[in-house]
Amino acid sequence: MGKKLYIETLGCAMNVRDSEHIIAELNKREPYDLTENLSEADLIIINTCSVREKPVSKLFSEIGIFRKYKKPSAKIGVAGCTASHLGREIIDRAPIVDFVIGARNVSKLSKVMDKRHAVEIDIDYDDSTYQFGEYRANRFKAMVNISVGCDKSCTYCIVPATRGDEISIPKDIIIREVKRAVESGAKEVILLGQNVNNYGKHFTAPDEPSINFTQLLREVSRVDGVERIRFTSPHPLHMDNEFLEEFAYNPKICKQIHIPLQSGSTKVLREMKRGYSKEWFLDRCEKVRELVPDVAISTDIIVGFPAESDKDFQDTMDVLERVKFEQIFSFKYSPRPHTKASSFPNQVPDEIASARLTSLQKRHREILDNIQKRELGRVHKVYFDELKANGRVSGRTDSGKLVTVMGSEELLGKICDVEIIKTSLYSLEGKAV
Ligand code: 5AD
Ligand code: SF4
Repeated sequence: MGKKLYIETLGCAMNVRDSEHIIAELNKREPYDLTENLSEADLIIINTCSVREKPVSKLFSEIGIFRKYKKPSAKIGVAGCTASHLGREIIDRAPIVDFVIGARNVSKLSKVMDKRHAVEIDIDYDDSTYQFGEYRANRFKAMVNISVGCDKSCTYCIVPATRGDEISIPKDIIIREVKRAVESGAKEVILLGQNVNNYGKHFTAPDEPSINFTQLLREVSRVDGVERIRFTSPHPLHMDNEFLEEFAYNPKICKQIHIPLQSGSTKVLREMKRGYSKEWFLDRCEKVRELVPDVAISTDIIVGFPAESDKDFQDTMDVLERVKFEQIFSFKYSPRPHTKASSFPNQVPDEIASARLTSLQKRHREILDNIQKRELGRVHKVYFDELKANGRVSGRTDSGKLVTVMGSEELLGKICDVEIIKTSLYSLEGKAV
Protein backbone atom coordinates (compact mmCIF):
# COMPACT_ATOMS: atom_id res chain seq x y z
CA MET A 1 0.00 0.00 0.00
CA GLY A 2 1.24 3.49 -0.93
CA LYS A 3 1.79 6.22 1.61
CA LYS A 4 -0.98 8.63 2.49
CA LEU A 5 -0.89 12.41 2.53
CA TYR A 6 -3.26 14.70 4.44
CA ILE A 7 -2.89 18.26 3.21
CA GLU A 8 -4.75 21.29 4.50
CA THR A 9 -4.65 24.57 2.59
CA LEU A 10 -5.34 27.97 4.14
CA GLY A 11 -5.24 31.32 2.34
CA CYS A 12 -5.48 32.36 -1.26
CA ALA A 13 -5.55 30.84 -4.77
CA MET A 14 -1.77 31.05 -4.83
CA ASN A 15 -1.68 28.67 -1.87
CA VAL A 16 -4.19 26.33 -3.48
CA ARG A 17 -1.85 26.03 -6.47
CA ASP A 18 1.19 25.70 -4.18
CA SER A 19 -0.50 22.72 -2.52
CA GLU A 20 -0.73 21.13 -5.96
CA HIS A 21 2.97 21.87 -6.44
CA ILE A 22 3.69 20.23 -3.07
CA ILE A 23 1.80 17.09 -4.12
CA ALA A 24 3.63 17.06 -7.47
CA GLU A 25 7.01 17.35 -5.76
CA LEU A 26 6.17 14.56 -3.30
CA ASN A 27 5.05 12.31 -6.13
CA LYS A 28 8.44 12.74 -7.76
CA ARG A 29 9.93 10.94 -4.73
CA GLU A 30 7.28 8.30 -4.22
CA PRO A 31 3.54 8.10 -4.90
CA TYR A 32 1.23 9.43 -2.19
CA ASP A 33 -2.53 8.93 -2.05
CA LEU A 34 -4.51 11.83 -0.70
CA THR A 35 -6.58 11.20 2.39
CA GLU A 36 -9.06 13.31 4.31
CA ASN A 37 -8.64 11.08 7.34
CA LEU A 38 -5.94 12.52 9.56
CA SER A 39 -5.41 9.36 11.54
CA GLU A 40 -4.40 7.27 8.53
CA ALA A 41 -1.92 9.80 7.08
CA ASP A 42 1.83 9.09 6.90
CA LEU A 43 2.51 12.71 6.12
CA ILE A 44 0.51 15.74 7.26
CA ILE A 45 1.15 19.09 5.63
CA ILE A 46 -0.49 22.37 6.48
CA ASN A 47 -0.03 25.07 3.85
CA THR A 48 -0.42 28.27 5.82
CA CYS A 49 -1.39 31.90 5.31
CA SER A 50 -0.08 34.85 7.31
CA VAL A 51 -1.97 37.74 5.83
CA ARG A 52 -3.90 38.23 9.07
CA GLU A 53 -3.37 37.12 12.65
CA LYS A 54 -6.30 34.67 12.55
CA PRO A 55 -4.86 32.13 10.08
CA VAL A 56 -1.59 32.19 12.04
CA SER A 57 -3.33 31.20 15.28
CA LYS A 58 -5.22 28.59 13.28
CA LEU A 59 -1.88 26.98 12.43
CA PHE A 60 -1.08 26.32 16.09
CA SER A 61 -4.55 25.08 16.92
CA GLU A 62 -4.38 22.71 13.94
CA ILE A 63 -0.99 21.38 15.05
CA GLY A 64 -2.65 20.53 18.40
CA ILE A 65 -5.28 18.53 16.54
CA PHE A 66 -2.67 16.77 14.37
CA ARG A 67 -0.79 15.77 17.52
CA LYS A 68 -3.92 14.26 19.02
CA TYR A 69 -5.07 12.21 16.01
CA LYS A 70 -1.99 11.37 13.99
CA LYS A 71 -0.30 7.96 13.77
CA PRO A 72 2.84 7.95 15.93
CA SER A 73 5.01 7.53 12.83
CA ALA A 74 3.37 10.32 10.82
CA LYS A 75 5.44 13.36 9.97
CA ILE A 76 4.12 16.93 10.12
CA GLY A 77 5.28 19.63 7.71
CA VAL A 78 4.39 23.33 7.80
CA ALA A 79 4.47 25.09 4.44
CA GLY A 80 3.39 28.46 3.04
CA CYS A 81 3.46 32.06 4.16
CA THR A 82 3.51 31.52 7.94
CA ALA A 83 6.32 29.02 7.45
CA SER A 84 8.21 31.80 5.64
CA HIS A 85 7.53 34.39 8.27
CA LEU A 86 7.94 32.41 11.49
CA GLY A 87 10.49 29.84 10.29
CA ARG A 88 12.26 28.09 13.16
CA GLU A 89 9.94 29.69 15.72
CA ILE A 90 7.29 27.17 14.60
CA ILE A 91 9.51 24.27 15.67
CA ASP A 92 10.47 26.06 18.90
CA ARG A 93 6.79 26.51 19.75
CA ALA A 94 5.68 23.10 18.44
CA PRO A 95 8.60 20.62 18.38
CA ILE A 96 6.24 17.95 17.05
CA VAL A 97 6.55 19.66 13.66
CA ASP A 98 9.14 17.79 11.56
CA PHE A 99 9.94 20.37 8.90
CA VAL A 100 9.15 23.91 7.80
CA ILE A 101 9.18 24.95 4.16
CA GLY A 102 8.50 28.49 2.99
CA ALA A 103 6.09 29.68 0.33
CA ARG A 104 8.94 30.15 -2.10
CA ASN A 105 10.78 26.91 -1.42
CA VAL A 106 8.43 24.14 -2.54
CA SER A 107 11.00 22.79 -5.00
CA LYS A 108 13.26 22.06 -1.99
CA LEU A 109 10.68 19.79 -0.37
CA SER A 110 12.58 16.59 -0.94
CA LYS A 111 15.69 18.01 0.70
CA VAL A 112 13.80 19.18 3.79
CA MET A 113 11.75 16.07 4.39
CA ASP A 114 14.71 13.87 5.21
CA LYS A 115 16.15 16.05 7.94
CA ARG A 116 14.27 16.32 11.20
CA HIS A 117 13.54 19.92 12.16
CA ALA A 118 14.84 21.23 8.85
CA VAL A 119 13.78 24.78 7.98
CA GLU A 120 13.99 26.10 4.42
CA ILE A 121 12.61 29.61 4.00
CA ASP A 122 15.08 31.72 2.06
CA ILE A 123 13.57 34.10 -0.47
CA ASP A 124 16.38 34.03 -3.02
CA TYR A 125 15.41 32.55 -6.31
CA ASP A 126 16.47 30.77 -9.43
CA ASP A 127 14.54 28.91 -12.12
CA SER A 128 13.74 26.07 -9.71
CA THR A 129 11.60 28.53 -7.70
CA TYR A 130 8.81 28.08 -10.23
CA GLN A 131 9.41 24.71 -11.89
CA PHE A 132 7.56 21.77 -10.45
CA GLY A 133 6.24 18.34 -11.31
CA GLU A 134 2.71 17.92 -12.65
CA TYR A 135 -0.34 17.61 -10.44
CA ARG A 136 -3.81 19.10 -10.69
CA ALA A 137 -6.72 18.41 -8.37
CA ASN A 138 -9.23 19.27 -11.10
CA ARG A 139 -8.33 18.50 -14.69
CA PHE A 140 -11.01 20.76 -16.16
CA LYS A 141 -9.62 24.07 -14.94
CA ALA A 142 -5.96 24.83 -14.55
CA MET A 143 -4.32 27.38 -12.30
CA VAL A 144 -1.07 28.57 -13.83
CA ASN A 145 1.37 30.82 -11.97
CA ILE A 146 2.73 33.67 -14.05
CA SER A 147 4.78 35.32 -11.34
CA VAL A 148 5.93 34.75 -7.79
CA GLY A 149 6.42 37.34 -5.04
CA CYS A 150 5.42 40.98 -4.96
CA ASP A 151 7.27 44.19 -5.78
CA LYS A 152 4.88 46.54 -3.97
CA SER A 153 5.18 47.77 -0.40
CA CYS A 154 1.61 48.20 0.80
CA THR A 155 2.11 49.20 4.41
CA TYR A 156 -0.36 46.64 5.82
CA CYS A 157 0.86 43.61 3.90
CA ILE A 158 3.24 40.88 4.99
CA VAL A 159 3.35 39.14 1.60
CA PRO A 160 6.47 40.84 0.19
CA ALA A 161 8.26 39.53 3.31
CA THR A 162 6.93 35.98 2.96
CA ARG A 163 6.93 35.53 -0.82
CA GLY A 164 9.89 37.78 -1.61
CA ASP A 165 10.63 39.97 -4.61
CA GLU A 166 8.47 39.73 -7.66
CA ILE A 167 9.77 37.65 -10.53
CA SER A 168 7.87 36.88 -13.70
CA ILE A 169 7.91 33.34 -15.02
CA PRO A 170 9.22 33.16 -18.60
CA LYS A 171 6.46 33.13 -21.21
CA ASP A 172 7.60 29.84 -22.77
CA ILE A 173 7.24 28.02 -19.44
CA ILE A 174 3.74 29.47 -18.98
CA ILE A 175 2.63 28.51 -22.48
CA ARG A 176 4.08 25.01 -22.08
CA GLU A 177 2.11 24.60 -18.85
CA VAL A 178 -1.08 25.89 -20.47
CA LYS A 179 -0.68 23.45 -23.37
CA ARG A 180 -0.10 20.55 -21.00
CA ALA A 181 -3.22 21.49 -19.01
CA VAL A 182 -5.30 21.66 -22.18
CA GLU A 183 -4.02 18.24 -23.26
CA SER A 184 -5.26 16.78 -19.99
CA GLY A 185 -8.72 18.24 -20.36
CA ALA A 186 -8.72 21.88 -19.21
CA LYS A 187 -10.68 24.39 -21.25
CA GLU A 188 -10.21 27.07 -18.61
CA VAL A 189 -6.96 28.54 -17.31
CA ILE A 190 -6.61 30.85 -14.33
CA LEU A 191 -3.44 32.92 -14.42
CA LEU A 192 -2.09 33.58 -10.96
CA GLY A 193 0.16 36.24 -9.53
CA GLN A 194 0.24 38.78 -6.71
CA ASN A 195 -0.07 41.62 -9.28
CA VAL A 196 -0.71 39.91 -12.58
CA ASN A 197 -0.79 43.06 -14.67
CA ASN A 198 2.72 43.95 -13.54
CA TYR A 199 3.85 40.86 -15.48
CA GLY A 200 7.08 41.18 -17.44
CA LYS A 201 8.89 43.70 -15.23
CA HIS A 202 11.38 41.33 -13.59
CA PHE A 203 12.69 38.09 -15.05
CA THR A 204 15.54 36.02 -13.60
CA ALA A 205 17.33 35.96 -16.98
CA PRO A 206 18.36 39.40 -18.28
CA ASP A 207 17.88 38.37 -21.93
CA GLU A 208 14.25 37.26 -21.55
CA PRO A 209 12.27 38.91 -24.40
CA SER A 210 10.21 41.88 -23.30
CA ILE A 211 6.50 41.16 -22.82
CA ASN A 212 3.73 42.66 -20.71
CA PHE A 213 0.55 41.17 -19.26
CA THR A 214 -1.66 42.29 -22.15
CA GLN A 215 0.66 40.55 -24.60
CA LEU A 216 0.79 37.46 -22.39
CA LEU A 217 -3.03 37.31 -22.39
CA ARG A 218 -2.97 37.37 -26.20
CA GLU A 219 -0.41 34.57 -26.30
CA VAL A 220 -2.36 32.39 -23.88
CA SER A 221 -5.57 32.96 -25.82
CA ARG A 222 -3.86 31.70 -28.99
CA VAL A 223 -3.25 28.26 -27.46
CA ASP A 224 -5.56 25.79 -29.19
CA GLY A 225 -8.11 24.35 -26.84
CA VAL A 226 -8.10 27.24 -24.35
CA GLU A 227 -11.65 28.54 -24.26
CA ARG A 228 -11.72 30.56 -21.07
CA ILE A 229 -9.09 32.67 -19.38
CA ARG A 230 -9.36 34.18 -15.92
CA PHE A 231 -6.68 35.86 -13.85
CA THR A 232 -6.16 37.03 -10.29
CA SER A 233 -5.28 39.63 -9.12
CA PRO A 234 -4.66 42.69 -11.22
CA HIS A 235 -3.55 45.87 -9.43
CA PRO A 236 -5.74 48.95 -10.01
CA LEU A 237 -2.61 51.05 -10.55
CA HIS A 238 -1.55 49.09 -13.63
CA MET A 239 -4.97 48.96 -15.29
CA ASP A 240 -4.14 50.94 -18.41
CA ASN A 241 -6.56 51.25 -21.33
CA GLU A 242 -4.64 48.80 -23.48
CA PHE A 243 -5.10 46.11 -20.83
CA LEU A 244 -8.78 46.93 -20.30
CA GLU A 245 -9.42 46.83 -24.05
CA GLU A 246 -7.77 43.41 -24.35
CA PHE A 247 -9.91 42.29 -21.41
CA ALA A 248 -13.03 43.60 -23.14
CA TYR A 249 -12.44 42.50 -26.72
CA ASN A 250 -10.63 39.17 -26.38
CA PRO A 251 -13.54 36.68 -26.46
CA LYS A 252 -11.60 34.04 -24.53
CA ILE A 253 -11.12 36.31 -21.51
CA CYS A 254 -13.96 35.81 -19.05
CA LYS A 255 -15.76 39.01 -18.17
CA GLN A 256 -15.01 38.80 -14.49
CA ILE A 257 -12.37 40.95 -12.87
CA HIS A 258 -11.08 41.25 -9.32
CA ILE A 259 -10.01 44.83 -8.61
CA PRO A 260 -8.73 45.12 -5.04
CA LEU A 261 -9.93 48.43 -3.59
CA GLN A 262 -8.64 48.07 0.02
CA SER A 263 -10.07 51.50 0.95
CA GLY A 264 -12.27 54.09 -0.74
CA SER A 265 -10.52 56.97 1.02
CA THR A 266 -7.71 58.64 -0.89
CA LYS A 267 -6.11 59.59 2.42
CA VAL A 268 -6.10 55.98 3.64
CA LEU A 269 -4.92 54.72 0.25
CA ARG A 270 -1.97 57.09 0.54
CA GLU A 271 -1.17 55.74 4.02
CA MET A 272 -1.47 52.22 2.61
CA LYS A 273 0.93 53.20 -0.23
CA ARG A 274 -1.43 51.82 -2.84
CA GLY A 275 -0.40 54.34 -5.48
CA TYR A 276 -3.93 55.35 -6.63
CA SER A 277 -6.78 57.53 -5.44
CA LYS A 278 -10.50 56.94 -4.98
CA GLU A 279 -11.08 58.79 -8.26
CA TRP A 280 -8.62 56.60 -10.20
CA PHE A 281 -10.26 53.45 -8.84
CA LEU A 282 -13.74 54.68 -9.80
CA ASP A 283 -12.48 55.79 -13.19
CA ARG A 284 -11.04 52.32 -13.91
CA CYS A 285 -14.26 50.60 -12.84
CA GLU A 286 -16.29 52.96 -15.02
CA LYS A 287 -13.98 52.29 -17.95
CA VAL A 288 -14.39 48.51 -17.55
CA ARG A 289 -18.16 48.85 -17.37
CA GLU A 290 -18.23 51.16 -20.36
CA LEU A 291 -16.36 48.51 -22.38
CA VAL A 292 -18.19 45.51 -20.88
CA PRO A 293 -21.57 46.54 -19.46
CA ASP A 294 -22.21 43.10 -17.92
CA VAL A 295 -18.80 42.74 -16.31
CA ALA A 296 -18.66 41.22 -12.82
CA ILE A 297 -16.30 43.15 -10.57
CA SER A 298 -15.12 41.76 -7.26
CA THR A 299 -12.86 43.36 -4.68
CA ASP A 300 -10.95 43.19 -1.40
CA ILE A 301 -11.67 45.75 1.32
CA ILE A 302 -9.90 46.40 4.63
CA VAL A 303 -11.73 48.36 7.33
CA GLY A 304 -10.18 49.87 10.45
CA PHE A 305 -6.80 50.70 8.95
CA PRO A 306 -4.86 52.96 11.40
CA ALA A 307 -6.40 56.44 11.64
CA GLU A 308 -9.38 55.49 9.41
CA SER A 309 -12.07 58.03 10.35
CA ASP A 310 -15.84 57.73 9.91
CA LYS A 311 -15.49 59.95 6.87
CA ASP A 312 -12.81 57.66 5.38
CA PHE A 313 -15.07 54.69 5.94
CA GLN A 314 -17.94 56.56 4.26
CA ASP A 315 -15.69 56.89 1.19
CA THR A 316 -15.36 53.09 1.15
CA MET A 317 -19.15 52.77 1.42
CA ASP A 318 -19.49 55.29 -1.38
CA VAL A 319 -17.30 53.19 -3.71
CA LEU A 320 -19.33 50.10 -2.75
CA GLU A 321 -22.49 51.97 -3.68
CA ARG A 322 -21.19 53.18 -7.00
CA VAL A 323 -19.36 50.11 -8.28
CA LYS A 324 -21.91 47.52 -7.11
CA PHE A 325 -19.36 44.75 -6.70
CA GLU A 326 -20.60 41.21 -7.33
CA GLN A 327 -18.38 39.91 -4.59
CA ILE A 328 -16.36 41.48 -1.78
CA PHE A 329 -13.73 39.91 0.43
CA SER A 330 -13.76 42.20 3.45
CA PHE A 331 -11.50 42.14 6.48
CA LYS A 332 -10.75 44.01 9.67
CA TYR A 333 -7.25 45.42 9.52
CA SER A 334 -4.86 43.09 11.33
CA PRO A 335 -1.43 44.47 12.33
CA ARG A 336 1.30 42.23 10.93
CA PRO A 337 4.99 41.85 11.72
CA HIS A 338 7.44 43.18 9.10
CA THR A 339 4.91 45.84 8.02
CA LYS A 340 5.06 49.62 8.38
CA ALA A 341 1.42 50.06 9.37
CA SER A 342 1.77 47.87 12.47
CA SER A 343 3.64 50.75 14.15
CA PHE A 344 1.38 53.54 12.87
CA PRO A 345 -0.29 55.61 15.61
CA ASN A 346 -4.08 55.74 16.01
CA GLN A 347 -4.85 52.04 15.61
CA VAL A 348 -8.65 51.82 15.35
CA PRO A 349 -10.42 50.21 18.35
CA ASP A 350 -11.75 46.75 17.59
CA GLU A 351 -15.41 47.65 18.33
CA ILE A 352 -15.30 50.42 15.72
CA ALA A 353 -13.63 48.21 13.10
CA SER A 354 -16.16 45.43 13.81
CA ALA A 355 -19.10 47.80 13.46
CA ARG A 356 -17.74 49.08 10.14
CA LEU A 357 -17.21 45.56 8.85
CA THR A 358 -20.76 44.60 9.81
CA SER A 359 -22.33 47.57 8.05
CA LEU A 360 -20.18 47.09 4.94
CA GLN A 361 -21.11 43.42 4.68
CA LYS A 362 -24.78 44.10 5.36
CA ARG A 363 -24.99 46.70 2.58
CA HIS A 364 -23.12 44.41 0.24
CA ARG A 365 -25.57 41.56 0.88
CA GLU A 366 -28.40 43.89 -0.17
CA ILE A 367 -26.55 44.88 -3.34
CA LEU A 368 -25.78 41.24 -4.12
CA ASP A 369 -29.38 40.21 -3.45
CA ASN A 370 -30.48 42.60 -6.21
CA ILE A 371 -27.78 41.44 -8.60
CA GLN A 372 -28.64 37.77 -8.06
CA LYS A 373 -32.40 38.24 -8.39
CA ARG A 374 -31.92 39.79 -11.82
CA GLU A 375 -30.40 36.48 -12.94
CA LEU A 376 -33.73 34.64 -12.84
CA GLY A 377 -34.66 33.49 -16.36
CA ARG A 378 -31.34 34.50 -17.92
CA VAL A 379 -29.43 32.04 -20.06
CA HIS A 380 -25.68 31.64 -19.52
CA LYS A 381 -22.92 29.56 -21.02
CA VAL A 382 -21.78 27.44 -18.08
CA TYR A 383 -18.54 25.47 -18.03
CA PHE A 384 -19.10 22.42 -15.83
CA ASP A 385 -16.12 21.39 -13.78
CA GLU A 386 -17.26 19.68 -10.57
CA LEU A 387 -19.51 16.85 -9.43
CA LYS A 388 -21.66 17.71 -6.41
CA ALA A 389 -23.78 15.68 -4.00
CA ASN A 390 -27.39 14.68 -4.82
CA GLY A 391 -26.92 14.18 -8.56
CA ARG A 392 -25.82 17.74 -9.26
CA VAL A 393 -22.98 19.22 -11.26
CA SER A 394 -21.57 22.70 -10.83
CA GLY A 395 -19.84 25.15 -13.09
CA ARG A 396 -19.28 28.83 -13.68
CA THR A 397 -20.78 31.38 -16.00
CA ASP A 398 -18.42 33.52 -18.04
CA SER A 399 -18.88 36.18 -15.33
CA GLY A 400 -17.73 33.69 -12.68
CA LYS A 401 -21.09 32.93 -11.05
CA LEU A 402 -21.50 29.49 -9.54
CA VAL A 403 -24.36 27.51 -11.10
CA THR A 404 -25.54 23.99 -10.28
CA VAL A 405 -27.80 21.78 -12.41
CA MET A 406 -29.10 18.23 -12.14
CA GLY A 407 -26.68 16.02 -14.07
CA SER A 408 -23.76 13.64 -14.01
CA GLU A 409 -20.19 13.06 -15.23
CA GLU A 410 -21.03 13.52 -18.87
CA LEU A 411 -21.50 17.26 -18.30
CA LEU A 412 -17.97 17.67 -16.92
CA GLY A 413 -15.65 19.56 -19.25
CA LYS A 414 -18.57 20.82 -21.35
CA ILE A 415 -19.82 24.37 -21.92
CA CYS A 416 -23.62 24.37 -22.11
CA ASP A 417 -26.45 26.90 -22.27
CA VAL A 418 -28.18 27.01 -18.92
CA GLU A 419 -31.30 28.88 -17.89
CA ILE A 420 -31.32 30.17 -14.32
CA ILE A 421 -34.37 28.83 -12.49
CA LYS A 422 -33.58 29.71 -8.87
CA THR A 423 -31.34 32.31 -7.27
CA SER A 424 -29.77 32.69 -3.85
CA LEU A 425 -27.07 34.99 -2.50
CA TYR A 426 -24.07 32.85 -3.32
CA SER A 427 -25.18 30.47 -6.05
CA LEU A 428 -27.67 29.92 -8.82
CA GLU A 429 -29.66 26.89 -9.85
CA GLY A 430 -30.21 26.23 -13.52
CA LYS A 431 -31.43 23.78 -16.12
CA ALA A 432 -29.78 22.93 -19.42
CA VAL A 433 -31.63 24.41 -22.44
N1 5AD B 1 -5.07 43.07 7.58
C1 5AD B 1 -6.27 42.78 6.99
N2 5AD B 1 -6.39 42.38 5.73
C2 5AD B 1 -5.25 42.27 5.00
N3 5AD B 1 -5.05 41.92 3.71
C3 5AD B 1 -3.72 41.95 3.47
N4 5AD B 1 -3.05 42.33 4.57
C4 5AD B 1 -3.98 42.55 5.54
C5 5AD B 1 -3.91 42.97 6.89
N5 5AD B 1 -2.76 43.26 7.48
C6 5AD B 1 -6.14 41.61 2.79
C7 5AD B 1 -6.09 42.52 1.57
C8 5AD B 1 -5.60 41.61 0.49
C9 5AD B 1 -6.19 40.28 0.92
C10 5AD B 1 -5.54 39.10 0.30
O1 5AD B 1 -6.01 40.29 2.31
O2 5AD B 1 -7.41 42.95 1.32
O3 5AD B 1 -6.02 42.02 -0.80
FE1 SF4 C 1 -1.90 34.04 -0.02
FE2 SF4 C 1 -1.15 36.29 1.15
FE3 SF4 C 1 -2.11 34.33 2.63
FE4 SF4 C 1 0.29 34.12 1.50
S1 SF4 C 1 -0.30 35.57 3.06
S2 SF4 C 1 -1.32 32.56 1.52
S3 SF4 C 1 -0.01 35.20 -0.41
S4 SF4 C 1 -3.24 35.47 1.12
